[in-house]
Amino acid sequence: MHDEPAHPWQNERLDPHERARLVVEAMTEDEKFSWLAAPIALPIPGFPPIPDGALGSAAYYPAIPRLGIPGIQQSDASLGVTNPGGVRPGEDATALPSSLLLGATFDVETARETGALVGRQARAKGFAVQLAGGANLVREATGGRNFEYISEDPLLTGRLAGASVAAIQDQGVVSTVKHFTLNGQETGRVMADSRIEEAAHRESDLLAFQIAIEDGSPGAVMPGYNLVNGHYASENAHLITGILKGEWGFDGWVMADWGATHSTGKAALAGTDVQSGANFDPEPYFGAPLREAVREGRVPQARIDDMVHRQLRTLFDLGVIDHPPVPGGTVDYSADDRIAQRAAERGLVLLKNTGDLLPAPQGLERILVIGRHADVGVLSGGGSSTVTPLGSVVEESGIDRVWADRVFHPSSPLHAIRSEAGAARIDFHDGLDIQAAAAAAQGADLVVILAEEWRAEGLDAQGLGLPDGQEALIEAVAEANPRTVVVIQSGGAVGTAWAAKVPAVIAAFYPGGRGGEAIAGVLFGRVNPSGHLPVTFPESIEQLPRPQQQDPATTTSNPNMERLGEIFEVAYDIEGSDVGYRWFDREHHSPAFPFGWGLSYTTFAFSGLTVTTQGSEVGVDLTVINTGPRAGAAVPQVYVSRGTCDRSDPADFAPRLAAFERVHLEPGERCSIRMRLEPRLLARWDEAAGAFNIAGGEYQVRIGGHSRDQDGPTETIRLEPALLR
Ligand code: BGC
Repeated sequence: MHDEPAHPWQNERLDPHERARLVVEAMTEDEKFSWLAAPIALPIPGFPPIPDGALGSAAYYPAIPRLGIPGIQQSDASLGVTNPGGVRPGEDATALPSSLLLGATFDVETARETGALVGRQARAKGFAVQLAGGANLVREATGGRNFEYISEDPLLTGRLAGASVAAIQDQGVVSTVKHFTLNGQETGRVMADSRIEEAAHRESDLLAFQIAIEDGSPGAVMPGYNLVNGHYASENAHLITGILKGEWGFDGWVMADWGATHSTGKAALAGTDVQSGANFDPEPYFGAPLREAVREGRVPQARIDDMVHRQLRTLFDLGVIDHPPVPGGTVDYSADDRIAQRAAERGLVLLKNTGDLLPAPQGLERILVIGRHADVGVLSGGGSSTVTPLGSVVEESGIDRVWADRVFHPSSPLHAIRSEAGAARIDFHDGLDIQAAAAAAQGADLVVILAEEWRAEGLDAQGLGLPDGQEALIEAVAEANPRTVVVIQSGGAVGTAWAAKVPAVIAAFYPGGRGGEAIAGVLFGRVNPSGHLPVTFPESIEQLPRPQQQDPATTTSNPNMERLGEIFEVAYDIEGSDVGYRWFDREHHSPAFPFGWGLSYTTFAFSGLTVTTQGSEVGVDLTVINTGPRAGAAVPQVYVSRGTCDRSDPADFAPRLAAFERVHLEPGERCSIRMRLEPRLLARWDEAAGAFNIAGGEYQVRIGGHSRDQDGPTETIRLEPALLR
């Protein structure tokens, strides 16, 4: 026999909405307001100590013991459970590869595995809410947080972000999707007004969020720091109440970013439910001023109840209230490290491999490894998402007005190469003295350069170059020894003019806590590379929609800092919905390496394309064959375009990724796959109808190994007009 619950809402058989309604009814106003705003739960000089009961993390919302409601601890983020400044001393965590490397896997399954890991570790550490789920499109090649986003493509981003969020939540932890929307650059992120036409927005960033939210059903959504079309994202009624909660029926809660609330009535009525990181804001907007607004009738009481209801409903739904996470759970870090390593191994992108320099054979006489920190570890992106496994090396950035530290995950490529290569001798050089490094390179059987480009929250890359003379280093070393491989650790696309001088290049982005092992695996052939670029690598910055960068010294990029200059506009209508490769195609720019690009140690053939249509449902059948000597994974990508290249009809569009798959094949193996094209990628947003609209006519369907691959099978199909509701 079950004990009678003390409160009616503790009956787990009731609908989560009903349970939330019952709690809200029983709550005092003070209790409700205790969940509408909270400071960051970290010890920060000048702020009060962290609240009682807080574990130390991004936020804590207090328990309401009288009602049997537990406290809610929130932690960052997508790449693992963070421990900012070591606030929870001695705690380990698994650092996943950056989201861009996840994007490079083109693999929903990897997103699930890594998401589940984040959810498991969050729960074991006592966190009920994970601030994961970066789903912005990479619009700026230089963006400081690109490593927290998945790609420049709405389908790839939406599918992988959704899978990751769903897997986190399967562990009984709420996940978030952020930063809604158009938080495209870090320079002046708290002052940037992202401008875009509705249709372009719907077909690009909003579509990525829409797919992520459909697939992932996140419990929470976080608007960005930026403004969108003249309104702060946290005050943007059109986006939050109109689209997210209205059209998309989102029934979770909307939490402002930390220090990104700018008003009481406007934010509350626009649909923001919680003022997060409230101590970073100049006013306690969702505290006393919101109570006053309710008293004066400017904000209805129903809105307050809705703010709390949304949180409670979601927490009931995911089992957080019935089974609250408690710290001290068991984590199998070795097993989770293997997951992180496998994800990195699936994502690493072999950009170039002239003369089959790679995989390098075992038993070479002498290998030289060059790289400032190659003996220490692999680079992590900086900011709130930085995960610090035990043994991480932390260097202060020393950059004015930037919060983040440079963290190296304890996975030294040098050590990994030593254990993987079976070479007679492996030397190391930090590369600081270019001439000495080049001299050391002479006569080696293989030289591996680990290049580093650090980006962080609040810090865009300036230009696309590798910093600190590393390009000169690469050129000098390659001159001294033509058997040179460059491994790029970067926060996004970088310039690769130097690549003409080296035979082999690997893009590792930030590869996570087992990145060194994954890199060594690709270098020496234990791993057959299968990653494909989730972002276009431009030939030059002039090819980008906005080649001129703002001077970071003229603006403010972080909250709670004196504001320099004025709010400024970022014109996203230049490329509109043609983000990344779509812009390159439209403008006839040849990139250095296109979206979707990635080499393998084997070869694949795509054949037998059949396209079937039924209304707006389009299916693609395809045979993929491993025609080469090694097992490996292929990533067939389906690109659809409409019209001739002059795109004279407004319904026309340049090729868009409409489906993708990842298949593992043994040598000689063939496999039939079926893919469903995402109908919204065959459509344009129809403003008058308020819906995606497929124009009748002919469409080209092309299968490629990358976005510019013209050698794969193609077919022309006819679609009937269809309004997608
Ligand atoms: C970031 C968010 C993060 C929050 C809490 C903000 O600075 O933009 O992504 O979740 O801090 O740490």
